[in-house]
Amino acid sequence: MRAHVELIHEDDYIFHTGELPSGEGKILERRLSTDEEDGSSSLSLHAIGDWGRSAGIAHADTEFYVVEGTMIYGGQELGPGGYVQVPRGTAMDWVRFREGARILHWREYGDCGFDPYTNVAEASAKAAPESGEGVSVIDANRMEWTEAQSVGPLTPLYIKLLHRDPKTGFYTRLIRARKGWTDHRLAHHPCYEEFYTLGGKMAYNFGDIDEGTYCFRPAGVKHGHFIAETDIDWIIRSDGELTNWYTTDEWVKWGGHAENYEHHHAPVISTLPVRSRSRGEWSGDGM
Ligand SMILES: [Fe+2]
Repeated sequence: MRAHVELIHEDDYIFHTGELPSGEGKILERRLSTDEEDGSSSLSLHAIGDWGRSAGIAHADTEFYVVEGTMIYGGQELGPGGYVQVPRGTAMDWVRFREGARILHWREYGDCGFDPYTNVAEASAKAAPESGEGVSVIDANRMEWTEAQSVGPLTPLYIKLLHRDPKTGFYTRLIRARKGWTDHRLAHHPCYEEFYTLGGKMAYNFGDIDEGTYCFRPAGVKHGHFIAETDIDWIIRSDGELTNWYTTDEWVKWGGHAENYEHHHAPVISTLPVRSRSRGEWSGDGM
């Protein structure tokens, strides 16, 4: 189970030593969201020196996205927009981050466990036969933005699909909203949704988004009242096919008779999301 995080800015978070077994070099991580039951994690890695790891087999579905600097995967150099996805149990090649690189790193349905091998051929020989699926290595700069289907009175959003699991519908994609994009409705959906803001500004019910702002929103949480103040880009992940269900004219019925306290001592709602200091208090819009 992951907590509802909405909103934090990564600069408000402390650094930990990067938990990347079998690696060599200096790497720090900010823990944007973690699941302490299965080890799933969404991390912002900062390479404070060169860092690298041999070929091997990761225990979790593994993703890397380059925000800044350079990642080299099996000899292929990737700058900002570079993306690698490795299904768990599948052999992956060696990886290296150059000093100064900032990399978003996700592990899903598993922890940081990693079995190192001398080279990818040896790792492939040891990989689970049912793993089967291949590694995706993508330079998003070489992809075209495609217009997303929308429901209702919306101007389009634009998408670059980086990876989609054909069995579960789990996907990772880049999304761009143009300046002025707006939706007055509140949406919720049957799967989780997570975003990291790569650039731009938007206001919505949970606050103001700018570069480095992050959210992990469990299934069923309403969100909306969006207004894009500039063009804005996110990397977004979801653990299934995303269907938006819309709410308008929303209302909340919540409370009870105050026996011995005044209104300003009223209890808080116990499901308030995790927020970090620079995002301020949540107004409760969209509750
Ligand atoms: Fe959503």
